Amino acid sequence: MSDNQASLIAGGKTIDMPVNSGTIGPDVIDIRKLYAQTGMFTYDPGFTSTASCDSAITYIDGDEGVLLHRGYPIGQLAEHSSFMEVSYLLLNSELPSEQELADFSRTITRHTMLHEQLATFYRGFRRDAHPMAIMCGVVGALSAFYHDSTDIADPVHRKISSHRLIAKMPTIAAMAYKYSVGQPFVYPDNKLSYTGNFLKMTFGVPAEEYEVVPAVEKAMDRIFTLHADHEQNASTSTVRLAGSSGANPFACIAAGIACLWGPAHGGANEAALNMLKEIGTPDKIQHYIDRAKDKNDPFRLMGFGHRVYKNYDPRATVMQTTVREVFAALNVQDPLFETALRLEEIALSDPYFAEKKLFPNVDFYSGIILSAIGFPTTMFTVLFALARTVGWVAQWNEMISDPGQKIGRPRQLYTGPTSRDYVPIESR
Ligand code: CMC
Repeated sequence: MSDNQASLIAGGKTIDMPVNSGTIGPDVIDIRKLYAQTGMFTYDPGFTSTASCDSAITYIDGDEGVLLHRGYPIGQLAEHSSFMEVSYLLLNSELPSEQELADFSRTITRHTMLHEQLATFYRGFRRDAHPMAIMCGVVGALSAFYHDSTDIADPVHRKISSHRLIAKMPTIAAMAYKYSVGQPFVYPDNKLSYTGNFLKMTFGVPAEEYEVVPAVEKAMDRIFTLHADHEQNASTSTVRLAGSSGANPFACIAAGIACLWGPAHGGANEAALNMLKEIGTPDKIQHYIDRAKDKNDPFRLMGFGHRVYKNYDPRATVMQTTVREVFAALNVQDPLFETALRLEEIALSDPYFAEKKLFPNVDFYSGIILSAIGFPTTMFTVLFALARTVGWVAQWNEMISDPGQKIGRPRQLYTGPTSRDYVPIESR
């Protein structure tokens, strides 16, 4: 903590407030006593200048395009690590030893099965239900099945529920897919890796032997790694806010899933591919660029722009490389990739995007890979939710373990009517 002070002149008084420093990144002005001292609140809709918590998990420098998990750059993790190892790192602060990783992977694997009765939940949904709707419902319902891990004051309960959430998410996601295509659910196969198992549960059928394609498994695992955590974004803040009231972790993660679904957040990967399909061929790009720049047109380039990154999203760089690897491994081509590359090129040379510092984000290329692997667009955000669960759980655990943790309770600038007397209906 620094001993710097910031001063604010408000209501005729000068208020000194401490300035706190983290290990890297912007300092923060600690305004916690502001209301008591001045009777005023700060006003920051959308939290563009607000740090909502201390956290030691993930660091983003949006101007430089840097993303670190526990200090390790995302590029290095994507290249050398695995989703299981990054999950361990996010939850436990340090990279695991070989033994620790083996034990962690075994623990997660042991929890992959779902209570059999949960299968009946799926049958309550319409066949054409969006899988994110199913995810919100089924994950929220886990708290009704796993009562033995919902005491959030008990660190052992928190650990078990965290492992359960990470382990069961692929099973839940694959079942949502199977339900939508009318195929039987495929049980987990604990001989396989976390990601290989997910692929088998999604694309395997009981009638045939399913072979995991190593290149696809690697690409999928990398996509999970790239989505594992991203600091205090909308869904993570939702998880923290829900958790701050003492709600159980399954309910909190269901809240995060609901928030992630929006097209400005996790839903952007589905929207980005739909947009590329709508654009179709490179000759139509300029028309869509013009629409994105038109203030009277609600159209935005999906997969472009970010609240924090004012530079190339480092995850998008890895995604672009991964597209090529998957295409080579599966021996496929997708003309939409050419459209995407050309769209990026045209947008980045346009002053509108340059001035506003709008670059491709993680969602711009991910849909092309997922589509090549065989996922329908409606599953894209589900995959994001699956991977982000570890980040949500790590952030939730960090918050609950903090002895000074308080319920999150923002205030407001009230703009409604002032006090007035009730008017009986016959006199209105
Ligand atoms: N296309 C065209 N214009 C854009 C875009 C875009 N994709 N993104 C931002 N702008 C413009 C926006 O109109 C605004 O212009 P002005 O200052 O003239 O009003 C300016 O850039 C700043 O945008 P903003 O909406 O105030 O910025 P924000 O930080 O509130 O929003 C965002 C960030 C990600 C919601 C936004 O860039 C966006 O809607 N992008 C498209 C959706 C998307 O790809 N989302 C995924 C984000 S990464 C994954 C994740 O977090 O889940």
